[in-house]
Amino acid sequence: MPRIDGYERVSGTAVFPLDVILPNMLYGAILRCPHAHATVKAVDTAKAREMPGVHAVLTDADPEAQIGWFSRPGSAGSGSPALSRLFDPHCRFEGEEVAAVAADSPQQAWDAVRAIRVEYEVLPFVSDMEAALKPGAPDVQEGGNRMGNPRETKRGDVEKGFAEADVVLEETYRTSCDIHTCVEAHGSVVQWDGDRLTVWDTNQGPFPIQAALAGALRMPLSKVRVISSYMGGGFGSKLNLGKYSVIAALMARKAARPVKLFLTREETFLAVGNRPAHIMKLKAGVKKDGTLTALQLTGVGEMGAYPAATAVGYQVGDLYKCPNVRIEETMAYINAGPNRAFRAPGFPQCSWALEQMMDALAEKIGMDPVDLRLKNISTVCQMDNNKPYTSTGLRECLSEGARAFNWKESRSRPKGEGPWVRGVGVAGGMWGSQNGPPATVIVKLYADGSANLNMGAADLGTGTKTVMAMIVAEELGVPMDRIQVENADTGNTQFTSQSGGSKTVYVDSPAVRAAALEVKSSLLDMAAAQLKVPAADLNFKDGEILAETGTQRLALRDLRQLQMQQAVVGVAVRGPVQSDKVVRPFVTHFAEVEVNTRTGEVRVVRMLAAHDSGRVMNLLTYRNQVFGGFIMGLGLATMERRILDPVTGKMANANWHDYKIPTAKDVPAQMTVLPIDLHDTECNTTGTKGIGEPAMIPSAAAIANAFYHATGVRITAAPITPSQVLTLLAERKTKG
Ligand code: MOS
Repeated sequence: MPRIDGYERVSGTAVFPLDVILPNMLYGAILRCPHAHATVKAVDTAKAREMPGVHAVLTDADPEAQIGWFSRPGSAGSGSPALSRLFDPHCRFEGEEVAAVAADSPQQAWDAVRAIRVEYEVLPFVSDMEAALKPGAPDVQEGGNRMGNPRETKRGDVEKGFAEADVVLEETYRTSCDIHTCVEAHGSVVQWDGDRLTVWDTNQGPFPIQAALAGALRMPLSKVRVISSYMGGGFGSKLNLGKYSVIAALMARKAARPVKLFLTREETFLAVGNRPAHIMKLKAGVKKDGTLTALQLTGVGEMGAYPAATAVGYQVGDLYKCPNVRIEETMAYINAGPNRAFRAPGFPQCSWALEQMMDALAEKIGMDPVDLRLKNISTVCQMDNNKPYTSTGLRECLSEGARAFNWKESRSRPKGEGPWVRGVGVAGGMWGSQNGPPATVIVKLYADGSANLNMGAADLGTGTKTVMAMIVAEELGVPMDRIQVENADTGNTQFTSQSGGSKTVYVDSPAVRAAALEVKSSLLDMAAAQLKVPAADLNFKDGEILAETGTQRLALRDLRQLQMQQAVVGVAVRGPVQSDKVVRPFVTHFAEVEVNTRTGEVRVVRMLAAHDSGRVMNLLTYRNQVFGGFIMGLGLATMERRILDPVTGKMANANWHDYKIPTAKDVPAQMTVLPIDLHDTECNTTGTKGIGEPAMIPSAAAIANAFYHATGVRITAAPITPSQVLTLLAERKTKG
C-alpha cells in the first residue's frame, strides 16, 4: 500500500516545519563556540544590536535565559541540579550555544551573529575517550571524565564458564562516532499568541517536546502547542527538545514576532547528537559442539561533553543462550557534542562485536556460523528473569534466510584470484522493544461513510500514518482514500508518547483498532434498532450494513440514527501491555561483499534481510525500513565516522561532502527482504512488533564477516576504509 501522504510529500504540498512562513516572522541564528573547550569571558553584542533588521539578541546575561540543561546521570529528572544552562559560559564542545539573534532575514541574522564579539579563554581539551579516562586528562565535567559508576550486569560465573570451554577467544572491537544526518535539519518556528505558545517543530513526538518545553519555560502544558505533522527523518536525534526551540521562543517573546530558527547542515553535525564511538573488549567461551559457556564484555562509550547514555551490552546478555555473562560498561566524557539515541541505540555497536566474535568462534570449532547461532537460540529473556518472549523468530530468520540467500552454496563458492575477491557473511540480532504511556486514539465516521483517524503519533517518514489508516480501513470496510489521518499535534490530536524505539505501530495500533471497533459496534447497534434484529447478526462492510442472512442490507444514508447525529465517534486507549512476557523483534542479515585487494575498495553486492517483527502490516513500507536500515549499517561498516582533529579538537568533516554516507552508487545491486511474518498474538491485538531499528542492527557485522570470509583478515575497527584494508592486508603479507 503506497503511503497515504505520498502525493503531498512528493509534490511538495506537504508543509514541513521548515516550510512554515508566518506573517511578520523573524529568522533566528545561533552563535556557537568555535573551540573544543573554552570559557566565555565576555560577550559584546552592542554592534549586533545596532545592525539593520535585528529585533532580538539573547545571551547568558538575559535573566530569562537562565534555564538549566542536562542533569547529572542517575539524578532524578527535573528537580536535580543542571550541569549546564541555555548559554553556558563553560563551553565544553565545539558548537555549544553562546548567543542568538533574530532578524528580518536569515542573512541579517547571520551578519549580526558575526558581529558579536566574544572573548574566550581557550582551555585544554580531550577528544578521545581513552585519553579522557587517563589521569591528568583535562576535565570535561567537574568531577572527572567518568560518567557515573560503571554499569555492571552479572549472571552465573564467567570464570567457571571459560574453564568449561574448549575454545576461548578475546578481541577488542571498535566503532566510530556516526552522525544521524537527517535529510531535514533540526529547527522550529515559534509563535506567541498572548501567553500561548505554538511551535512547529521537527521531532519524533510532539507530546514529550511539549512537556520539555513547558518545563524549560515554566509554562502550563495546556499553553504549549507543538505541531509536527510532517518530518524528514530523525533516527533518534529528534526525540529531545532542542535548545534552538527554547531560544526561538525567548527571542519571539522579546521581539513580539514569530521566529523561525533552523540549524545549518554544519550545525547539525556538531550539536544535535551522534551515535557514540565504542570500544568493546569481548571474551567468549564455546564448547566444541557449539554451546556457549561464557561471554564477558568490557565496554567504554564516548558520551560527548554532557550526560547521555548509550549502553551496548544488552545483546551479549540476551541474544544467545549463555549461562555465564558479565558486562561492564564505562561512559566517558570528551569535548565533543553529546550523543543522542541513534537507531537502536547501542545495538549495532554490540552486533559489530558479538556477531564478529560468533563468526570467529564458529571458525575455531569448525562449525558453520549459521549453525552456531541456531545452536544457541533462547526462547526466554535471560536479561529479565527468564520470562518467555511473546514470540521468537530468530530460528526462522536464520534457517529460512540461509535458504533464501543460498548460504551454503555461496559460502563454498571460489573466492576469486584477485584483485577482486568475494565472500559472504551472516549476523543475527534482536531489538529491545519498549512501551510507554497508553496512547489514546479517536476514530470518527461521518454520515457519508468517510472517516478521520485522530492520533498523536508522529510519522517519521516510515509510513506510520498509512499502517494506522489500513487498520481503520480493514475494521470499518472504508476505502483508504476516504480516510484522513490527523496526527502529531498536541493541540488537536490525542496523547501518545514519541515515535521511537520502533514501538509506534506495536504500541499505538491496538488503540486504533479498538477505536475503529467501537465505531463499528455503535453503527451495528443503530442498525439493529432500526431493523429490529440482534446486532450480533449484522456486519458493516463497504459502507453498508448487512444482515448475516444476506436478506437485509442498509446503506449508511438510510441509517436514520446516523443521519440524525451526522457522525459516530470511537475513542480507545491502549490497554495494559504484557508484563509477564517480553517483546523482542529478531533479525538475521546476510551480505556478500567484493574486496579489491589492490585498492582496498569494499563493495556490498548482495544482501538478504530476514526479519521477525511480528505481522507485516504493509509490505511496501516494511521493505523500505529494511532497505534503509541495512544501508545505514553499510555506512557504519564501510564509511561513516566523525573525525575530530587532534590538534584543535574541532570536527574536520562537519558537512555532507567530507562526512561520507552511502549513496545510490553504494547500494547493493541485489537486495532481498524476507519477512518471517509470525503474527505475535501474545504481544498485542494487531500481532505486530516493530521494524525500524531491527533493520540496521546486524548489517554492519554481516558485512564485516563477509569481508573476513573474502580476505581472511578481521577488521575489528569500523569503518572498513580502503586505507585500513590495505594496511591490514600488507601486515598479513609481511607476517606471512
Ligand atoms: Mo529511536 S533511536 O528510539 O528514534
